[in-house]
Parts: sequence; structure tokens; C-alpha cells
Amino acid sequence: MNLQHNPNDYSAVVEADKANVWHHLVQHKKFETVDPLIIIEGKGMRVWNQAGREHLDAVSGGVWTVNVGYGRESIANAVRDQLLKMNYFAGAMGTVPGALFAEKLISKMPGMSRVYYSNSGSEANEKAYKIVRQIANTKYDGKKYKILFRERDYHGTTIATLASGGHTQRKALYGPFPDGFVEVPHCLEYRSQWGDVDDYGIRAANAIEEVILREGPETVGGIVLEPITAGGGVITPPKGYWERVQEICKKYDILLIIDEVVCGMGRTGKWFGYQHYGIEPDMVTMAKGVASGYAAISCTVTTERVFNMFKENADDPLSYFRDISTFGGCTAGPAAALENMRILEEEKLLENCTAMGEYMMEKFHGLKAGHAIIGDVRGKGLFTGLELVKDRDTKEPVEEATAQKVVAACAADDAVLIGVTNRSFPGFNNTLTFSPALIATKSDIDEIVAAVDRALTKVIA
Ligand SMILES: Cc1ncc(COP(=O)(O)O)c(C=O)c1O
Repeated sequence: MNLQHNPNDYSAVVEADKANVWHHLVQHKKFETVDPLIIIEGKGMRVWNQAGREHLDAVSGGVWTVNVGYGRESIANAVRDQLLKMNYFAGAMGTVPGALFAEKLISKMPGMSRVYYSNSGSEANEKAYKIVRQIANTKYDGKKYKILFRERDYHGTTIATLASGGHTQRKALYGPFPDGFVEVPHCLEYRSQWGDVDDYGIRAANAIEEVILREGPETVGGIVLEPITAGGGVITPPKGYWERVQEICKKYDILLIIDEVVCGMGRTGKWFGYQHYGIEPDMVTMAKGVASGYAAISCTVTTERVFNMFKENADDPLSYFRDISTFGGCTAGPAAALENMRILEEEKLLENCTAMGEYMMEKFHGLKAGHAIIGDVRGKGLFTGLELVKDRDTKEPVEEATAQKVVAACAADDAVLIGVTNRSFPGFNNTLTFSPALIATKSDIDEIVAAVDRALTKVIA
């Protein structure tokens, strides 16, 4: 056992990792012959591995998280100061950063009013589902308990959030799942389920209504949707979609839960993805970028209308929200989140995200002109996907292994880390994903695009 290591020699760390760490989403057989990558240090957009090799991170920590970039001393200081003053108390009490961050967050979310703290995106969504279920039981005699979710959306890794996940491969082998989660069709126009229709957005939203009518509107209490689907292939909503979804939710008295775990905190150029589309959610969940990975924090944010349903009957001992998240009481989360938000504002990173996002999109369209393997370019802000196909006319997806070779070539040849839809749907793990930190410059984007250009040329050859 090596409790100390030489800062210039990470071999003991690699051995300790190989012997004892179980990494997420990784088949470990390969580590019998190759070493895992250990990330030693990060600064801005760059990270360094155990061999001292520098990489440009185009995925904000792998899973669209580190929105303000690495090495932020002011966040570390804010967390340190807060931990020394008061590190933890269970959420039945208040804390200074908990109150101040909630106030700041709500100031960016007109129409919303209450923040419930927990510590992962999955957990934030579970809280939203519990809220729907409790309302079903207190207001609708238990009948309005079903929660709709969309094919290709992802909401987390716990059994209930997997039950509400539209990634069939991610769910495989983890059933049986709890009842009451019902799938609606995806809204990826590039892969239209209804042929070449003019009003695809309305058609895709109407498909939700069809499911509601099939299930019985009196049984449907909520619907959870990503504003722009992330891990399902960076799916931007088609024209008219959100307006119609909102109408349907109002018509059938269905609570609209927007999962902003990826899109939240500026990723798409606005504070929240839903704010591009005039959506009025009943609940919004968020995690990843809330503190840019400097501390674990997630939030389930509700309207005052939803919140009030949990206090109007104070004599009933079961009427309030009887949920607890132990680590929802850690003050490091909101302390880091407050400073994260200050940085986003002071450095005008939402504006940078919009400008650099447009630049990245333009560059990727240029790349598409030169590479027939790129079937579709999608995204908003610094959040982009390139769907790879064998043939543009048939749109037949490339093999998963081909997309993964492109990712591997970017890392090996140019030290640029990009993402790919990861074993989510059989036959459709073919979208490259990009989510650089919101501090990205034109030259960072040029470097990313050049790496993808070379990797595509190499892999096709
Ligand atoms: C849209 C979305 N929701 C929820 C989650 C789950 O978040 P966590 O991994 O923090 O539980 C993720 C994770 O990638 C996500 O992409």
C-alpha cells in the first residue's frame, strides 16, 4: 500500500487505481494490458495526465460539467472559507450559502420560487418524481401517478430514474423497474418517425398527447423532458414543439419537469435551456454545471404553486414533503455554486458561450461540407453533436466502433478529448459530442475542429 507518492512518479497511483478503483461506464478487462488515464491537474480548458501530457478538454470533465474551467482559485477559497466556518448541517435547518444561492438562482428563473438541495442529477429528478407522486396521492386519490419520459432522454442512474430513461441499452439488465413510467416518442427530426412532414415539431408533440389519451389523462401526473436532449445525441427541439408541449401539459393538468442537469448554468448561452423556448415549467432539476464540479450539488426547483401544495394542510402529519438528502446539507455545494455564478456573470460567459457556440457551429458545418460521414450537425451554445452516417441518403448510422475510433484518434493524435453517445441505444451510438467550458476561445475551437477533421480523415481511410 502506498499512501504517499512522488509528485513526479505516478506509477504507485496507477497501481492503486488498477487494484482498487471501479471506474464508471468502463469494461475493466482492458486494464490488464493498458493503464487507466489518471488526470493529475487542470487549468482553464486543459488537463494533464500521469505522463505529463497536456490535453484540450472539449467535454468539460467528460460529462459537460466544468462550465467555468479548471483551477478556479476563488471557488476553492469560497469553499475553504465556508467549510471552516460551517461545513454541514442537515437540510431541516438553513445555512448562509444555502439561502443566498437559492435567492440568486431564483433571480435567474422568473416564475420559479423554491430550491430543494440534494447532490446529484439523478437525485434531483427522484425528488421531482416524489413530488408528483405525493401530489397524486394527496390531490387525486392516487390516480394521477404516471410520469411520462421521452425516448432518447436520460435522467439518471438510479433504478427509478433509469425507469424514466429513454436509453434502452443503459437500462438493459437492470430491471425490473418500478411501475408508472411511460415512454413518449423522441423529437429528432433528422430521424423522423413520420416521414418528411412539414410540421414535424407539432407532430412530435402531438405524439405525447396520443400517449396521454391512450393511458388516460386522469392517470398522468407529470412529464420529464430535457430542453435539448444531451446524451441521447444532442437533439435540439424542432420548430413549434415546445409551444405545443406546454399547451398539452396545461390541457391535461400535467406537471412539466424540465431536466436542466446538462443544459443548466449557461451551457446553451442562457441560464437555462428552457429559457430559449418560452417554457413555463412546474419544476426544474439541475446539477453538473451548478458548481462546475468544484463541489457536489443538485437542485430541484419548483414554482410557489407546487410548493404550496405541501403546506396547505398543516394538520395532516403526512402532508409536507417528507424527503431527506443527507448531503443536501453540505454547504460546500451552494458556496461553490454562488462563486460559480458570480464568475459566469462577471466574465460574461453566457455571452461568450453564445458567440463561441455560433463559431463552433459554423466550423462544424464547414467540416460537414468536406466529410460525407457527417450526416447532421446539431446544438446550441457550446453544446454540439455531429451525427456520423455511412451514407447521407440512407442515413444508415456508422458502427459504434467507428465513432469511438474518431474519439480515440482525437485523444491519441491531437490530445483533444471529445465525447460520443455512449452505449445508449443499439445501432445509434453514432453521435460525437462537444461541450467545452464556457471560457473557450476561437483558438480552442479551431484546435478541436482541426483534431476532428484529422481524426475523421484517418478513420475513413
Ligand atoms: C440530462 C441528465 N439528467 C440527469 C443526469 C444524472 O445526473 P447524475 O449523474 O449527477 O446523477 C444526467 C447525467 O449525465 C443527465 O445527462
